[in-house]
Amino acid sequence: MNSHEDKPRSGLSRRQFLKGTGLTAATALASTPLLESGPAQAAQNARAATPGFGPGPVKLELTVNGAKVTTEVEPRVTLLDALRNYVDVTGPKRVCDRGTCGACTVLLDGKPIYACTCLALEAMGRRIETAEALHAEGSLHAVPAAFVQFDAQQCGFCTPGFVMAIKAALDRNPKATPEELEAAVSGNICRCGTYQQMRDAIRSLCKKMAQHNGQPIQTLAAASLSAGCCHHGKEG
Ligand code: FES
Ligand code: FES
Repeated sequence: MNSHEDKPRSGLSRRQFLKGTGLTAATALASTPLLESGPAQAAQNARAATPGFGPGPVKLELTVNGAKVTTEVEPRVTLLDALRNYVDVTGPKRVCDRGTCGACTVLLDGKPIYACTCLALEAMGRRIETAEALHAEGSLHAVPAAFVQFDAQQCGFCTPGFVMAIKAALDRNPKATPEELEAAVSGNICRCGTYQQMRDAIRSLCKKMAQHNGQPIQTLAAASLSAGCCHHGKEG
């Protein structure tokens, strides 16, 4: 017998004893509640508690301009792409696709957001408004009407984003000042540079709101639009 085996009186060698205790300790460690409450286990629990989506297409239900729409998208699809490519709502425009230009601005539960930075699935169960909601048969909402009246667009690609941001600000505060409305569109960019005409439209809107004593003006009749159109600075 090897002298290191150093068999104790119990009949169990020291090596056998150490092997046995090591195994027991490892088994005990693996089943210890400490590990169950550790970060790895917490992450595993969180994964088990979170409903899984994807990676394939999943059902998407959105409420867009008061209408329910249903489609299927991969979970990675943004709200902007879901609106434009899956349910044919093309008011929000895709320009930078990274939250810097504001062309994709929509209202989510009344708040302006960049639709390119929001996942479509995040918008489920929430109220989505786009520029399409701002016109009805024979009439136009006061905000786009002012843009038309003051020629506040050239290519028009940025216009739906500006219009929705201004609408949100006026919904929030019908007595907003021109400076406050300009601040509300500070996250929107117009590459054609029609800022001066937009300022004119904004000043006109504020004047109209004041005439309505701060009450929201929802629409302007098409007739009043055509009367004011192309006469910059004159109220229609
Ligand atoms: S396309 Fe969304 S911010 Fe530019
Ligand atoms: S009108 Fe062309 S980008 Fe604004």
